[in-house]
Amino acid sequence: MFGLLRRGAAFAAITATAAMVLAGCGGDVKGQHADLVKGKQLFVERCGACHTLARAGTRGTVGPDLDEAFAQSLSAGFKRSVVTGVVKQQILYPAVTGKMPGKLVTGQSAADVAAYVASAAAKPGQDTGALASAVRATTQTAASAKNGRLQIDANANGQLAYDVSSATSPAGALTIDSRNPSATPHDIALQEGTSGRVLATGKVVSNGGVSTISVTLRPGRYTFFCTLPGHRAGGMQGTLTVR
Ligand code: HEC
Repeated sequence: MFGLLRRGAAFAAITATAAMVLAGCGGDVKGQHADLVKGKQLFVERCGACHTLARAGTRGTVGPDLDEAFAQSLSAGFKRSVVTGVVKQQILYPAVTGKMPGKLVTGQSAADVAAYVASAAAKPGQDTGALASAVRATTQTAASAKNGRLQIDANANGQLAYDVSSATSPAGALTIDSRNPSATPHDIALQEGTSGRVLATGKVVSNGGVSTISVTLRPGRYTFFCTLPGHRAGGMQGTLTVR
């Protein structure tokens, strides 16, 4: 139901923008000079935590799935340049009653992001060439606690992932530090099992801040995750095994 409503909204916005373009007042929405590589990098960093876009590899669920949002208009024959205009409009002037922060990117950056989204939305297959290597793939490794401390940093590109997908620790007192180098806010929390009691939640940080929790653990399996809406569902979690 939600998906249908959102698709409808994007379709309505496109119809309005197309009318503007036809009326000759949408001349700057075509994004001829856009840098798609930069656009992709910025999209992953600033937008991907809230939006799914298959070609960008993002899996956010707070906002609408952008492949779905534009599929209807594109298959109805609207040009991708029109979609660029709709995305740019949404970036600069999102609904004041909505949950999307405005002007996360501005100027040429907004044009680059809009052009990338429009080029990638609802397009089967994968990005190729320079676009394929624009964003480093998330490499998740394992970590182990040393002297009662464990480091589980957030992905530097703002993707919904920690650098570590599994970790081990001896039983006893443990402090977990999660540095977040990206502009996308994250925290770290720990719970028993995969759905048990939440033992601790660190503060929300971004731009190099560190979210820290201190717990005392018995042997068993625990899950560390980000509590921000949609982040865990997008993949921002991992397993801590205490022996
Ligand atoms: C904090 C979460 C969040 C971030 C970050 C975010 N958005 Fe959104 N976005 C939303 C939500 C929620 C909506 C639904 C409408 C609303 O609430 O305003 C939305 C709507 C949209 C739409 C309209 C889709 C439709 O179906 O009508 C587009 C396009 C869009 N966002 C693109 C972007 C781009 C590009 C960025 C990065 C510059 C971005 N968003 C960043 C949450 C976000």
